[in-house]
Amino acid sequence: MKNVMILTGAGQIGMAIARRMGYGMKIIIGDKKPENAQTIAKTMNDAGFDVVPIEMDLSSRASIQNIIAKAQKYGDITMLVNAAGVSPSQAPVKAILKVDLYGTAVLLEEVGKVIAPGGVGVTISSQSGHRMKQLTPEEDEQLACTPTEELLKLPLLQPENIRDTLHAYQLAKRCNEKRVMAESVKWGAKGARINSISPGIIVTPLAIDEFNGSRGDFYKNMFAKCPAGRPGTADEVANVAELLMSGKGAFITGADFLIDGGATASYFYGPLKP
Ligand SMILES: NC(=O)c1ccc[n+]([C@@H]2O[C@H](COP(=O)([O-])OP(=O)(O)OC[C@H]3O[C@@H](n4cnc5c(N)ncnc54)[C@H](O)[C@@H]3O)[C@@H](O)[C@H]2O)c1
Repeated sequence: MKNVMILTGAGQIGMAIARRMGYGMKIIIGDKKPENAQTIAKTMNDAGFDVVPIEMDLSSRASIQNIIAKAQKYGDITMLVNAAGVSPSQAPVKAILKVDLYGTAVLLEEVGKVIAPGGVGVTISSQSGHRMKQLTPEEDEQLACTPTEELLKLPLLQPENIRDTLHAYQLAKRCNEKRVMAESVKWGAKGARINSISPGIIVTPLAIDEFNGSRGDFYKNMFAKCPAGRPGTADEVANVAELLMSGKGAFITGADFLIDGGATASYFYGPLKP
């Protein structure tokens, strides 16, 4: 038996984190597109990792329970990396809420039930959650604590209250941060930790879809005018994950880490101010 990592989302960010943290472990990679999971599994297996790809859908509780059950066959689940998601240019409002908001909440809940003592998790949120205006304390608490099956019935998530896919994505990512805070209390009771990372523009297929989508110029302007002056790389996100998931991060849980080259700072107080 080995310690097991569950990685959801066989994309560039997920792979970078799995390569940084998953040595010596059994890694179960779930993705809605089985070919993505297989491609990343092959790259990693060819590099000495021990990876099993499976088809899974983050928006389905049954599918999440299935990947957990498969993972448990190999040993104790000690790590979770959630890097599955859809972006504002990739999906309609309903799908963004179902995958990025509801799916992430269910995954944190279900893995939280079985995570081993000393276990750690990270989920990938986004700078988008930081850029949206503050919600009321009541709304934040609703996003943090509403039972998962009731989440999508919240008034602030109804279609008449959501402007467009970007707004849905921002709400989903804000919810990720709040869920992580609430879940960290439950994970802590098991001796485990959970945090989120909010990247800015990281060059991956998802970001490239954004560059080529209707908001392409907006995104290119964003990295040109942020303090770093460039988009980031998945390996830089893995640097943060390594801090959070290693012993160096032992006192960090229920927290969110922004890694955006300063784009959010520039949006509020610099040249990116709208
Ligand atoms: N790339 C960026 O600039 C950026 C910035 C901020 C946040 N993020 C977030 O990082 C995460 C990973 O994105 P990435 O850039 O590595 O993208 P990516 O496109 O490389 O990978 C995302 C993966 O998630 C999978 N996926 C989509 N819907 C799914 C579902 N319902 N169930 C299971 N898998 C599903 C896709 O098939 C894909 O393989 C996402 O949550 C995204 O919102 C990305």
